[in-house]
Amino acid sequence: MADQNLMDKVVSLCKRRGFVFPGSEIYGGLANTWDYGPMGVELKKNISDAWWKFFVRDRKDMVGLDAAILMNPKVWQASGHVDCFNDALVDCKDCKARLRADHLIEDAVPDAKVEGLSTAELDDLIRKHGIKCPKCGSTNFTEARVFNLLFQTNIGPVSKDSEAVYLRGELAQSMFVDFKNIMDTGRQKIPFGIAQVGKCFRNEITPGNFIFRTIEFDLMEFEFFIKEEEWEKWFDYWLSEMKEWLSVVGIDSAKTRVREHTEDELSHYSKRTCDIEFETPFGWKELYGLAYRTDFDLKNHMDKTGINLQYRDPVTNEQYIPHVVEPTFGLTRSVLMVLLSAYNEEEVDGETRVVLKLNPAIAPVKVAVLPLQKKLEDDAMKVYDLLKKDFACEFDLSGSIGKRYRRQDEIGTPYCVTFDFESLEDNSVTVRDRDTMQQERISIDDLNNYLKNKMS
Ligand code: GAP
Repeated sequence: MADQNLMDKVVSLCKRRGFVFPGSEIYGGLANTWDYGPMGVELKKNISDAWWKFFVRDRKDMVGLDAAILMNPKVWQASGHVDCFNDALVDCKDCKARLRADHLIEDAVPDAKVEGLSTAELDDLIRKHGIKCPKCGSTNFTEARVFNLLFQTNIGPVSKDSEAVYLRGELAQSMFVDFKNIMDTGRQKIPFGIAQVGKCFRNEITPGNFIFRTIEFDLMEFEFFIKEEEWEKWFDYWLSEMKEWLSVVGIDSAKTRVREHTEDELSHYSKRTCDIEFETPFGWKELYGLAYRTDFDLKNHMDKTGINLQYRDPVTNEQYIPHVVEPTFGLTRSVLMVLLSAYNEEEVDGETRVVLKLNPAIAPVKVAVLPLQKKLEDDAMKVYDLLKKDFACEFDLSGSIGKRYRRQDEIGTPYCVTFDFESLEDNSVTVRDRDTMQQERISIDDLNNYLKNKMS
């Protein structure tokens, strides 16, 4: 299967089976916005719940936060995002395509070094290599200009009186801004982390590749507060936990690699950053990030507000500004990589079977109950009611049994339970395994336990 073809197939399956729809579609859409349909919302939520369980609930050293998306604009000045959260863009004068200068160069000259270059240096590289517009082939570009990625909006109904604020560009800042509240109200001792899942917004110059890079996206991240001298130990520890998470969520680790950021490439707040990259149909791309943010953020917020954000060690009484290691995970990006990892096509009896081999824990539907015929609907519904107590279930009566299996395979349902005429006699059903397609006869009395064991 050619790679780009895989992307097209995943996008088409997402639309066909209710995972992801183009945003505002009946009004002609709004570029690079996407809506998660009935299957997509379950998948996204299951990934986010699994992440919360793995990194927060199952640990003693992590607490959660759900902060406001809008924050005082001074936060983004103190964090450096107003001054440093920038990308350079060029416009094609002929077809008016707007392009990120570094991506334009990297796509045309893969070994070019673009990190940290000024706009004049980016212009020089574009000219030197005779780089063409990927949309129309022209070399007629404007000079590179710098754009800030923070997404501005206004508070107040009357525009002339309203105050400009930013939709948050990352979750991290609220963990720093609420650090004191959390320390004052909890019993956290360093090392510990503050975790959050939520929406972020960035005025991306070149959004695209379906849900890979969008203006509005969901992020899962935590700030892990440590003593400065222990940062390397924790950096290694969290990198290995992030790799472990890939198997929990069902991202094909054979398609991932760790890439160290060069000095020039580091964000304004970071002393060391690694990306976990995924080999997508459109090249190796950042999936997750891990950054050592030093004490940059707490120090800046302390300087700007005059509020003491130091930690006092309860044993030694020593006071210091904690340092931070930050693992960050795109949630919407996880959805895409999970789908790309799970998509399979198999030849079965001369036909192509499309199957999403999702981990049962994140599959939108765990069990589908399929009565063989309409006459069996009421009895099969009793089995559905029984299963519904323990699993996300679907009851499907439409079309031939073969068609119903195909639909369940395409949405990644691990088990189908078929209720047939014999079920009325022997109080048993046929359970079909999505991956092996093998069928087993199971007593209805044992069904919930049988499926729980299978999925555990
Ligand atoms: N707090 C650190 C931070 O925000 P980042 O590398 O800028 O770091 C974190 O972003 C993660 O968010 C990325 O690793 C990626 O998974 C995801 N991400 C970033 N920009 C995105 C976008 N425009 N659309 C979807 N996901 C994005």
